[in-house]
Amino acid sequence: MKNIVLLGSTGSVGTNTLDVVRAFPDRFKVIGLAAGNNVEKLAEQVVEFAPSIVSVADELKAGELVQALRHVGLRHPPCEIVWGVEGATEIAVQPAAQLVLGAMSGSQGLLPIYRAVEAGKDIALANKETLVIAGQLIMAKAKEKGVQILPVDSEHNAIHQCLRGVARSEIRRLILTASGGPFLHTPKERWNAVKPSEALNHPTWRMGQKITIDSATLMNKGLEVIEAHWLFGVSPSQIDVVIHPQSTVHSLVEMIDGSIIAQMGITDMRSCIQYALTYPERLESKLPGLDFGKPHRLEFFSPDREKFACLDLAYKALQVGGTMPTVLNAANEVAVAAFLSGRLAFSGIPETIALTMEQIASEPVTSVERLTNVDARARIFAEEAIAMHV
Ligand SMILES: NC(=O)c1ccc[n+]([C@@H]2O[C@H](COP(=O)([O-])OP(=O)(O)OC[C@H]3O[C@@H](n4cnc5c(N)ncnc54)[C@H](OP(=O)(O)O)[C@@H]3O)[C@@H](O)[C@H]2O)c1
Repeated sequence: MKNIVLLGSTGSVGTNTLDVVRAFPDRFKVIGLAAGNNVEKLAEQVVEFAPSIVSVADELKAGELVQALRHVGLRHPPCEIVWGVEGATEIAVQPAAQLVLGAMSGSQGLLPIYRAVEAGKDIALANKETLVIAGQLIMAKAKEKGVQILPVDSEHNAIHQCLRGVARSEIRRLILTASGGPFLHTPKERWNAVKPSEALNHPTWRMGQKITIDSATLMNKGLEVIEAHWLFGVSPSQIDVVIHPQSTVHSLVEMIDGSIIAQMGITDMRSCIQYALTYPERLESKLPGLDFGKPHRLEFFSPDREKFACLDLAYKALQVGGTMPTVLNAANEVAVAAFLSGRLAFSGIPETIALTMEQIASEPVTSVERLTNVDARARIFAEEAIAMHV
């Protein structure tokens, strides 16, 4: 039995993770859950999985969770309730936890994951922003503590599978596939008029709002390039992105002799989550494989990096190094939130990020506190830029 802590339990990855846990009741015990605001869903999860500790966004939500638990018949909370980043962090370092699955969205997942690595917990990581901001610190700490960082993100999960038994010296390049999102064929001139509902309509994956907008701008792929750099220890020039609208090939590895290994499958995150939770074992799954009784078309072509400027900005941030990926990530989070709330045009997302990267200089990465400080400064600048109508 593996004791797991799930950060972001009420989200898209979180609920898929609990589906995997449900399928293997003899393998996994959920001992801690962290969510944000969705206390109704969290209350249902508490009843079903009986964790010993849960966390919510803030004290107000903790009170609402107590009420929600009463609604489902529990007069007294059956577990400890904590809140805020401190609460999620307390859950992530529980002595009994053997694996922490990081599925909070955005930069708020950073501290709980970093502290979990410090505490020697293995990590299954969906929350890519964590590695974008602090990949250098997290990977160094993981090495020091002998901690495994297992990728849940489908592309990195695919590469992890392709690289089993492969020496690093045999790799020529990693090739991340991207669906291209809903605006692959939309002329950039129309980007000013794009509505959030259109950007949230991803052609192949069902995900949370932030990652879905990132997929529409291709920033998601840019963040994944940075994530791949830290996870697999390859240089930026060894990481390519290819548009593959069918999302059937989840990613590929090209060897030094030109041979290419690809990982394929259905678009269901439960497959990646199960792989990360059970690694190094593989368990029989009820999920279907690809149906080759039907015709499959596989297309691959290069992304238009002028149109999808966010991808270029991510490569640039990685090449500049230091705290620049933190700046990129902070500006992106602010711009995406502004777009979703109607304060910024879709085309303003890359503009805001570019302006912020010009304004906030890169510094050496020395501590999590330094990164938090840079993150805060970048957010303030990006908000101001948006307020001045970039
Ligand atoms: N979805 C996918 O298929 C997918 C694939 C690959 C990678 N990822 C990555 O996985 C992460 C999660 O993505 P998602 O699509 O699952 O996002 P999501 O559906 O938006 O879920 C985010 C989760 O984080 C929780 N959360 C938000 N604010 C919080 C706070 N202050 N404290 C604690 N928890 C908080 C949310 O809680 P409430 O809902 O209760 O507020 C929710 O449980 C992202 O980094 C994304 O890039 C996702």
